[in-house]
Amino acid sequence: MTEALSQALMFPMPRAAGCPFDPPPELSRRSEQEPVSRVRLWDGSSAWMVTRYADVRALLTDARISVDVAEPGFPHTNAVSKARDAQMKTLMQMDAPEHTTHRRRLTADFMVKKIEALRPTIQRIVDGLIDDLLAGPNPADLVEAFALPVPSLVICELLGVPYADRAFFQRVAGELVMDEGDPAHAMAASEELNAYLEELVDRKSAEPGDDVLSRLAVEQYRTGAMTRREIATMGQLLLVAGHDTTANMIALGTAVLLAHPRQLSAIRDAGDPAVVAGAVEELLRYLSITHTEARRVAREDLVIGGQPIRKGEGIIAVKSTANRDPAAFSDPDALDVHRNARHHVAFGYGAHQCLGQPLARVELQVVFGTLFRRIPTLAPAVPQEDLTFKPNAVFYGLRDLPVTW
Ligand code: HEM
Repeated sequence: MTEALSQALMFPMPRAAGCPFDPPPELSRRSEQEPVSRVRLWDGSSAWMVTRYADVRALLTDARISVDVAEPGFPHTNAVSKARDAQMKTLMQMDAPEHTTHRRRLTADFMVKKIEALRPTIQRIVDGLIDDLLAGPNPADLVEAFALPVPSLVICELLGVPYADRAFFQRVAGELVMDEGDPAHAMAASEELNAYLEELVDRKSAEPGDDVLSRLAVEQYRTGAMTRREIATMGQLLLVAGHDTTANMIALGTAVLLAHPRQLSAIRDAGDPAVVAGAVEELLRYLSITHTEARRVAREDLVIGGQPIRKGEGIIAVKSTANRDPAAFSDPDALDVHRNARHHVAFGYGAHQCLGQPLARVELQVVFGTLFRRIPTLAPAVPQEDLTFKPNAVFYGLRDLPVTW
């Protein structure tokens, strides 16, 4: 190990006590002083960490980088993610041209126009859950009563997965995205979910409905273009990426707004959907919940931010510091729902940029445009220091959010 490497920091780094909504201080310091630097990972390997906005965008659109998880230098997040990557190849682990072919099979379902048509359904779901919340016990846990069910109901509707099975898939999805624990346990969960989805593909093929899995069963499975397994894997990615991310954004976004009452009232009293839409972009930027960041490996020698990176070396593109880069956002550590934050990289950038972003946007716009208006007295039921955050999960979030009104 070289001297520079022996001094390399461990990634990820801990967040500061009392600042749960900010990136770890050491990460911010690196971004200021050494924007492309070495970090050590859980298995003793090392990788380059790229932290500035312009460098992150340049990197994520560079054809010389790859998501090939089989490359020895690929910077796996932990033992669970390494095992998961070895077992299952989704869109996220495919390079062009394979990636382009697979992603194209889904783009029509996530086009802005198609997703906008779901807005009334999403509004109905959100209103129904708020009715139930208000009719139930006070205080209540906003994660269980609202943040988790909103995206679960929406993704079930879109994919054609029976919501009655939610206890099952929420459990296995939860096991899949935990970054700690026994990889064998996570793999067993993934197998269970795949078996469930494969059976569902058969049912959809026999009796198609108006949903994404039915469309894939008819257009891809029946024609032999995709196997049952491939469709199940795609379904698994959509189900997990489609509910855990948005659920964490709802819970964390609510917690951060409750801690910033003036920003909250700007959203509540806006009466203008454009203000709410802008606030959602700012929350995405500020919270950057995919804190395990974008992992890549260099396919060829390249230079990023003046730093040469050699073929085969692992690279981590850090969106959370890119989204706090003063060169891209003025006064970046301030939460300001009125700023124009739309150019953030919370959904990634380049070929793998989030496929579900139109859906996430509409869900979050409906949630934040409705929740504080319908429950204007919403308040935390415990002090912020008593909240339990999820520092070791794939997506940053809150285990629970006790609220009162
Ligand atoms: C607030 C919510 C969300 C956030 C912050 C988020 C974030 C991200 C990010 C950062 C990536 C890129 C990963 C990389 O470059 O390595 C990504 C990819 C992806 N997301 Fe999301 N996502 C969200 C919601 C959703 C939803 C609702 C869906 C689907 C229903 C979804 C489906 C996907 C898929 C399929 C990919 C892989 C795209 C590819 O590799 O081509 N996401 N997401």
